[in-house]
Amino acid sequence: MEVEPGSSAMARTGDRIDRRRWLTGAAAVGLSLAAERALGLAKTPRQTTGPFYPYDHALESDADLVQVNGRSALARGVIAHLDGVVKDHRGRPVPGALVEIWQCDANGRYHHPRDRRNAPLDENFQGYGRSRTGADGGYRFRTIEPVAYPGRAPHIHFAIRGPGFEPLITQLYVRGAPENAKDWILNRIGDPNRRASLVVPFQPHPELAGQRTARFDIVLG
Ligand SMILES: [Fe+2]
Repeated sequence: MEVEPGSSAMARTGDRIDRRRWLTGAAAVGLSLAAERALGLAKTPRQTTGPFYPYDHALESDADLVQVNGRSALARGVIAHLDGVVKDHRGRPVPGALVEIWQCDANGRYHHPRDRRNAPLDENFQGYGRSRTGADGGYRFRTIEPVAYPGRAPHIHFAIRGPGFEPLITQLYVRGAPENAKDWILNRIGDPNRRASLVVPFQPHPELAGQRTARFDIVLG
């Protein structure tokens, strides 16, 4: 079932205060488009889909990856509130775009049969989620700060689809992660500025102790 961020289905996090704060931040997603236009908008670089795109969309796929339906415990890891705006190359917000993310759990394990690594699966982590952009082009997820696994820097996979534009597949990285310097997929992007556009800070949440916020704006071609 696809659930929009901010819908009543999100209430099952069980922590009303936490949820209210999470939603209140939606208004902050808007940004100075004029300022960005002055700088010139560069397209978000494409990245490989990788082997772990979810094969089974019948599983839960809402925008809260930290709380799985029917489970009382939250996912392991550092909770991260991830949001951003999907824009076209002129900086105009793109409403109605489907934003998908997928990532490994805090143990470095993907919820995918192809991931046969000898790491325990965190059954409380959803592993995959969807958000549809609103009128302001904004999307948001509650997930975990990504972790490294053998051969890869911490990353979150993204797919953005919608009418009128080519689907964009890319990956988000964590600023300051030491593994970034050697990540073979990130470093396929030769231009350091384009590479840097995929690397975002995960900062302490201003109100929720121990949690993070991260913002990743996406520019379509
Ligand atoms: Fe991956």
